[in-house]
Amino acid sequence: MRRVITIISFIFFIGITVVHSQQTPKNKMLDKKTDELLSQMTLDEKIGQMTQVDFNAIKKNVKDIAKYSLGSILCGGDSEPDDITAKGWAELYDKYQNIALKSRLKIPFIWGIDAVHGHNNVDGAVLFPHNIGLGATRNPKIVEEAARITALEVAATGIDWTFAPCVAVARNERWGRTYESFGEDPNLVKGMGAAYVKGLQGADLSDDASILACVKHYMGDGGTTNGKDQGNTEVDEQTLRNIHLPGYITAIKAGAKSIMVSYNSWNGQKMHGHKYLLTDVLKDELGFEGFLVSDWAAIDQLDEDYKNTIEKSINAGLDMIMIPYGPDQKNNYVEFITYLKELVNEGKVPMSRIDDAVRRILKVKFEMNLFENPLTNKNLTSKVGSKEHREVARDAVRQSLVLLKNDNAVLPLSKEKKIHVAGTAADDIGIQCGGWTIIWQGKNGNVTSGGTTILQAIKNTVDDESQVTYSADGSGAENSDVVVVVVGEKPYAEMHGDREDLSLSKEDLELIDKAKSSGKPAAVVLLSGRPMLIADALGKCDAFVAAWLPGTEGKGVADVLFGDFKPVGKLPHSWPKNMQQIPINIGDANYDPLFPYGFGLTF
Ligand code: GLC
Repeated sequence: MRRVITIISFIFFIGITVVHSQQTPKNKMLDKKTDELLSQMTLDEKIGQMTQVDFNAIKKNVKDIAKYSLGSILCGGDSEPDDITAKGWAELYDKYQNIALKSRLKIPFIWGIDAVHGHNNVDGAVLFPHNIGLGATRNPKIVEEAARITALEVAATGIDWTFAPCVAVARNERWGRTYESFGEDPNLVKGMGAAYVKGLQGADLSDDASILACVKHYMGDGGTTNGKDQGNTEVDEQTLRNIHLPGYITAIKAGAKSIMVSYNSWNGQKMHGHKYLLTDVLKDELGFEGFLVSDWAAIDQLDEDYKNTIEKSINAGLDMIMIPYGPDQKNNYVEFITYLKELVNEGKVPMSRIDDAVRRILKVKFEMNLFENPLTNKNLTSKVGSKEHREVARDAVRQSLVLLKNDNAVLPLSKEKKIHVAGTAADDIGIQCGGWTIIWQGKNGNVTSGGTTILQAIKNTVDDESQVTYSADGSGAENSDVVVVVVGEKPYAEMHGDREDLSLSKEDLELIDKAKSSGKPAAVVLLSGRPMLIADALGKCDAFVAAWLPGTEGKGVADVLFGDFKPVGKLPHSWPKNMQQIPINIGDANYDPLFPYGFGLTF
């Protein structure tokens, strides 16, 4: 009898603890405020909160922000104001938020943007290594610091929410978004993703320098067949859960309050219409309390008929819909609002679903203190691009570099010797930063200000700049002691980076050949969003460094090249010998990469 009582009391204790933890005083206060506001809202206002409109669509109809009580504005790729300085962004934010506060219930909007490796929409912001480089650091601390600085520089422009971190587990490097993933191993991804969420959201979401994280893209975006962007992830449920779900479990535990749904399909069914995965798994089984946002016009892919796509996506569990289009285009935000209201009145979308979505959105806005603190904290704006922030980014770059080869101890370089630097990529911030840099696709050249190219960093490091010579084509190395050849991918983003062939370009191969023909010791630095086919190049150089897409702080590359920082980076991907090997991932049978997952030399 005594045993039975003990067991019952233990179960009772656990029950109370669980209930109690969910009803902390803070949570109870947030629920109270949310329910009070929800009870005052009309159906139109509720649907307005579920509507997210791109800046390019709303800038011609700014009064609609208040008219429809829009829940959110975003700036998608290539959607930005004329003045992209931090000050310009902050002024735009406050101007539009003040319109939102003219709505009947004065509900502030939440402004989202892709700040995915720093605040990459602001000229002069500090840009960190893309996630593939952060994965190579194996250091959650530097990842959290990078996210913390990103949050501050985003908040400094008023913006409340970044569509990051991407916790894709990239399993096929043909995928153009491989560099947005921390790596091929879910255990690496889940640790880095959680650290990134903590950095963005800080100890308290209501803090001025904290912003809302948005974990993406749920789920299986990195597992599509042939690495096709927005393709079909054809795996059984156990594999889907083992590889592509862990990043969300740890991110939710870390406090993430928004998740972006993925374009891809799972075994032929679009994620944006997948009630089991969106509602049963994410919200019920994992207890996700935040809100689900769609990807860019992603619901349009569910059906030819826009009203049907709205019914399917909202009933599947989407809470906020990202709409790029204005009244002069099809599938626009006015149609969305009109059709969703019709669907509720026709009983095809239950009011309980609407209330659940709006409650989730409002509760996050209350937790972010947006109602009391809707405008930019202008004291932060001057911190964008600060020296302190650049030093942290430089440290992240150092830790991200992976040394793949170093024969005859060519590295570290001597600061007294004559160094010839070769390749346009050596002096190109745009190539260093990759996609999602001011421009959605990124671009070669001086795409953003305030950074340091690898060539500039090398010149800043040697004893006398005259020791350094440069040529774009690799010529002129004869009088030097050592050649540094910088090669790499031109910037790209999303499906524009899908490749069937990851060979180095003809120009890059010729560059390496020319360096080799000089007869001087040669070190190659590869700037790329993923492993590339380098078996031939390896045989033509003495040292080889994978630098990924390091961002604005090229000094971090020079620090490693000159040994001021010993390389610690480890491969976040298995490095294939040829295209036939891809997909190749740690744990595969007959695993025979050029370099294994986790490989990395040091001095
Ligand atoms: C894009 C991307 C997503 C991004 C969104 C808004 O298509 O898939 O990662 O956050 O649209 O720009």
